[in-house]
Amino acid sequence: MRIQVVQADITRLALDAIVNAANPTLLGGGGVDGAIHRAAGPGLLAECRALPEISPGVRCPTGEARITGGHALPVHWVIHTVGPVWKGGDAGEPALLAACYRNALALAEEKGIASIAFPAISCGVYGYPPEDAVPLAIASVRAALAAMQGIEEVVFCCFGADMATRYRDALAGT
Ligand code: APR
Repeated sequence: MRIQVVQADITRLALDAIVNAANPTLLGGGGVDGAIHRAAGPGLLAECRALPEISPGVRCPTGEARITGGHALPVHWVIHTVGPVWKGGDAGEPALLAACYRNALALAEEKGIASIAFPAISCGVYGYPPEDAVPLAIASVRAALAAMQGIEEVVFCCFGADMATRYRDALAGT
């Protein structure tokens, strides 16, 4: 099992699955969510819209994950997860962010996915400080993988060089 860091546009990765940093509606947005929907084409939005709402406007609660096909993307699956909005750190954000990684990997294992890439969930619009999110992401992935068999490769896909350096330093330091 390999964990690696790449600096890339996640929509270009040809793995089994990529993870989307979505919002609870699962109807698209900006950031990586917007990039994934643009690259996947309208079929992804149609599939997301067909997912059941568990409450008005909520198809995926914060911390949970849902899976769809990859549509026009070079991946077979997209796993959508909703990270916490940073509110200072005392509103349960760490546990919710950890749950995003754990639940996304649990869904991946269920589907027999062997390679999967994560963006830096919550580190953009949702304002989670990367100095807290990055070590938590690495620890959450490692903990989840320790209890799994099928996943062979996890990629932390960073859009910018700073984030890639942060992940590489954190991986080297742990
Ligand atoms: N590939 C990889 N990473 C990307 C890409 C891309 N194409 N585009 C953006 N990113 C990075 C950002 O630089 C950031 O580090 O993904 C990380 C997450 O940032 P956001 O996409 O803003 O996601 P998040 O902070 O979780 O906020 C989610 O933003 O787009 C909306 O609908 C989304 O409401 C939700 C919110």
